Amino acid sequence: MEHPQPSSVSQDLSEALKEATKEVHTQAENAEFMRNFQKGQVTREGFKLVMASLYHVYKALEEEIERNKGNPVYAPLYFPEELHRGPALERDMAFWYGPRWQEAVPYTQATERYVRRLHEVGRREPELLVAHTYTRYLGDLSGGQVLKKIAQKALDLPGSGEGLAFFTFPNIASATKFKQLYRSRMNSLEMTPEVRERAIEEAKTSFLLNIQLFEELQELLTRKAEAQSPVQAQGPRRRAGSGTQGPTPTETPRGKPQPSVLSQAPLLRWVLTLSFLVATVAMGLYAM
Ligand code: HEM
Repeated sequence: MEHPQPSSVSQDLSEALKEATKEVHTQAENAEFMRNFQKGQVTREGFKLVMASLYHVYKALEEEIERNKGNPVYAPLYFPEELHRGPALERDMAFWYGPRWQEAVPYTQATERYVRRLHEVGRREPELLVAHTYTRYLGDLSGGQVLKKIAQKALDLPGSGEGLAFFTFPNIASATKFKQLYRSRMNSLEMTPEVRERAIEEAKTSFLLNIQLFEELQELLTRKAEAQSPVQAQGPRRRAGSGTQGPTPTETPRGKPQPSVLSQAPLLRWVLTLSFLVATVAMGLYAM
């Protein structure tokens, strides 16, 4: 039987991070956007949005990594050839948004919040940068690989990997071995107990910033689907992160009985009632 590790200073940082983020990891996996994704219910629209957010996030993250590559609080984790996603994401942006992608890539509020925090950490608390690189890169090398296969199938993308460069790490032969190396480098960082505690908290914050991003994207997709198809998309409103099951926003439930138009359109109901009253009064006046 597995026993939880004591969260003491003697515990390796890699173990402490894994243990401390277990709960938020489950929360991230269960965000509606991610749950749908795992079921293969991802649309091109949703995928484009999440990739655009990741483009901004990695741009900020890798800018801060470059700023701190010589700083001993980060230097042992500097693996640009193996890890950096910037160039791959630029190729993905061109694939999804076309040659003028720089003008077309959306930048949502939750993405902006995440980017702001990354710059704050990189500039003012670089000793916490490890929390953000851990959350993103080790995640990409773990569950990210499953998501790649799901997206390829669901979006019917070419086997050549076009549009999915982000998920491909050509300079990492074995993700498992690389993650081991990365963990040992994290464990080699010199940290006071106080910094270590803050780094652990920052990793949880990093997960929460990701979760907020998924929730916002889901909300955007749901709202857009409702605007495009109000009759089908209304009904009990599915809020992002509400934990309710349901089809993805752009799916159109086929073959299901639709609620009557009147019960779905209060304005139309009012107009018809008013017309009926006016007609009744007019007929009364005519009869007099
Ligand atoms: C559908 C969503 C996800 C699935 C299916 C998934 C799945 C996994 C799996 C199978 C592992 C390997 C566990 C192990 O080797 O012990 C893992 C590790 C990890 N995941 Fe996720 N994940 C998801 C979402 C996320 C998200 C959104 C993040 C953060 C943004 C994330 C960050 C991580 C990290 C940092 C690790 C490494 C843990 C460690 O070894 O310390 N994951 N994930």
